[in-house]
Amino acid sequence: MSEKKAQLTIDGVDKPIELPVYEGSTGPDVIDVSSLVGQGFFTYDPGFMSTASCESDITFIDGDKGVLLHRGYPIEQLAANVSFLDTCFLLLNGELPDATEKGEFENTIRYHTMVDEQIHNFFKGFPRTSHPMAMLLSVVGALSAFYHDNLDNDNPEHRKIVAHRIIAKMPTLAAMCYKHGVGQPFMYPQNDMGFAENFLHMMFGTPCDAPNVSPILAKAMDTIFLLHADHEQNASTSTVRLAGSSGANPYACIASGIAALWGPAHGGANEAVLAQLAEIGDEKNIEEYILRAKDKDDPFRLMGFGHRVYKNFDPRATVMREICNEVLDDLGVEDDPLFRIARKLEKIALEDDYFIDRKLYPNVDFYSGIILKAIGIPTSMFTVIFSTGRTPGWIAHWDEMLSSSFRIGRPRQLYKGHTKRTIKV
Ligand code: SDX
Repeated sequence: MSEKKAQLTIDGVDKPIELPVYEGSTGPDVIDVSSLVGQGFFTYDPGFMSTASCESDITFIDGDKGVLLHRGYPIEQLAANVSFLDTCFLLLNGELPDATEKGEFENTIRYHTMVDEQIHNFFKGFPRTSHPMAMLLSVVGALSAFYHDNLDNDNPEHRKIVAHRIIAKMPTLAAMCYKHGVGQPFMYPQNDMGFAENFLHMMFGTPCDAPNVSPILAKAMDTIFLLHADHEQNASTSTVRLAGSSGANPYACIASGIAALWGPAHGGANEAVLAQLAEIGDEKNIEEYILRAKDKDDPFRLMGFGHRVYKNFDPRATVMREICNEVLDDLGVEDDPLFRIARKLEKIALEDDYFIDRKLYPNVDFYSGIILKAIGIPTSMFTVIFSTGRTPGWIAHWDEMLSSSFRIGRPRQLYKGHTKRTIKV
């Protein structure tokens, strides 16, 4: 680590406290405050706005410049040149696969896509009207009942098998959540199909028809998964790391990430964007909703806008908008009313001082829902799609943490409650 130092002077403390400062390969320096507890102080940072929770080599985001790198490769280059599974390999191994590695990895994933038949029984207990995220987090957590006893988190080979299994099984489980809701039989994965093609087949295929997935929609689906693959220490990835820091079963850790992603402030925003565009209903209503988004007394927020880190365009949103154009054109719905409202809403917001001053730009969720709806995926499944795409990121961070020296995550607090008092009996 570097020899840079920070001096912290505190009223009432004689000597300044010296703290080490570390430099990353890029991005802000960090101040190591871990010694403060020994000097009777905690740092205070609700929402972890200024907190680096760990060291990582996986993903870098420059929010001011709208840059997203996976192992150094810009997201727009990955989206244009490689597949989702290539990106999974990159996140897990640090490099893109060569031709041999690509074939082997695709084969490994292909032969882990089936789930234990017992998993089918879990769905029998869910009401048909269950939210797909409720079902997904339950059955992913249930995988820990099938893979636990001889799983050694400290064994790199065991961790590799966990990563392959969860990446492979997530689309199968995701499609099962949809099929249960529509009362259709589950479709088995086909070993002669690509990852995204297989997912769309398991979603929309039936035992009564021969497989028939549009290559253009399969490609769009693959890129949507890729754009969601990882995003540094976001809320759900930090949840997976925190759960994993106790040594918990990795499938249970991924289920905790799914739970965190479900919230509308995080991965649930894509579902909320569609509901909001439908509520706006017509371009003439946009101004009213912009005013509501700016009104401090109105809890209404423009879903799909703003980001904790990006204070510029989310580079994923830019790629997503291009895919939107292509898919709607391919489907002959380029004049989709929701897409028209979204484009107009984006234009108006980006010219409005409220959004400009707060650097609120469209994020990854703003356009994804329009594409998914055009593909025929119901809004309740949007965050399930996000979960399927984010699985490699979650498990890569879990693996990175377990392959390095780590301690159980255990934040402290600023206590504002009662001091010690005696019960009056
Ligand atoms: C994802 O972290 C990640 O990396 C997440 C993610 C990933 O890939 O994992 O990128 C995926 O979660 C994308 C974000 C999806 N969420 C939404 O689209 C929901 C709408 N956006 C917001 O709720 C909000 O922008 C957040 C939650 C995304 C960010 O919240 P912050 O960083 O806590 O910002 P803030 O709430 O402090 O807002 C700063 C100001 C406030 O106004 P002031 O009090 O300063 O006057 O901006 C305003 C907010 O009111 N603001 C918005 C707004 N977002 C922020 N005003 C209207 N509409 C919005 N969408």
